[in-house]
Amino acid sequence: MAEKQRLLSGMRPTGRLHLGHYNVIKEWVRLCDLYDSYWFTADWHAITTQFDNTDSIRANRREIVIDWLSAGLDPEKCHIFHQSDIKEHAELHLLFSMITPLSWLERVPTYKGQLEAFKEKGKDIATYGFLGYPLLMAADILMYRPSGVPVGEDQAPHVEFCRELLRRFHHLYNCQVFPEPQPVFNHIEILPGTDNRKMSKSYGNFILLSEKPEDVKTKVWSMVTDATRIRKTDPGHPDVCAVYAYQGFFNKAEQPQICADCKAGAIGCGQCKKRLTECINDFLEPMRERRAKYEAQPALLDEIIDAGNTAARKTARETMGMVREAMKI
Ligand code: TRP
Ligand code: SF4
Repeated sequence: MAEKQRLLSGMRPTGRLHLGHYNVIKEWVRLCDLYDSYWFTADWHAITTQFDNTDSIRANRREIVIDWLSAGLDPEKCHIFHQSDIKEHAELHLLFSMITPLSWLERVPTYKGQLEAFKEKGKDIATYGFLGYPLLMAADILMYRPSGVPVGEDQAPHVEFCRELLRRFHHLYNCQVFPEPQPVFNHIEILPGTDNRKMSKSYGNFILLSEKPEDVKTKVWSMVTDATRIRKTDPGHPDVCAVYAYQGFFNKAEQPQICADCKAGAIGCGQCKKRLTECINDFLEPMRERRAKYEAQPALLDEIIDAGNTAARKTARETMGMVREAMKI
């Protein structure tokens, strides 16, 4: 049988995952059956924007792996590792830096946008490392010679940058080391935040995958509903209500009935939220159980990451052999 094609993706360990991330991990779980899959925590990338506050990175990269496992990622079916454990990423990044025109990096659309966004918050991230963000990402990707990179649409310019860079590498050294990786976009339904805006860490409008039952209750209770509804008998407008959107994700079977009852003024928002709280807690319960297992046995997590690192390092060493050979160094 032909060998499976390879996939690779990473996440910066900047905090625990929330419900909005769940569908991404669900997609990763599905892809593990089809591809030889590598998933990693991009801990060096996290430093680009928080070089002045690195205290949480180590803890976060473990937390994020626990979140992946809790959400159903099966370590038997993929390789899970930390970027900074595979030093070859740094070597490839350095070698690539020798052939990357500065102008390519300066014109990556996320570069100026992010600089500005941070400047508004009073922080200057115009470092050498931050400029090189897409280059380090290109090294992460090409190291594993994957055929695809599952990412959100926001990362498309980075994958395109990576493809341009590999063409330049092949041209300069007259070789064919890397297959051209395709972005694999996650076509997932987007869950809004509890305030009906985009679910985001900076808005504080999320529910964590590791949220405690009573905190789920508090957060659902604070959710934005149809503001024109004062009394239970007032006819509601479910389409403007975040609780209703969530019912579609976590309580699909009852959603049509809730819609009808809301419009008819036959259900109160309190009752509706109570039901949603139960449904979200039912959904999170198996994840809490898996999380508890990994929290109780840190060695189990170490073993998973050691195994992932070993597999990643093997591929990385093969690639670096090919790269050094091509560059004659
Ligand atoms: N830049 C990605 C993000 O912020 C994280 C990342 C780093 C990544 N290296 C990668 C994703 C390589 C895919 C492949 O989401
Ligand atoms: Fe929203 Fe439910 Fe209240 Fe209708 S009853 S406005 S769907 S919370």
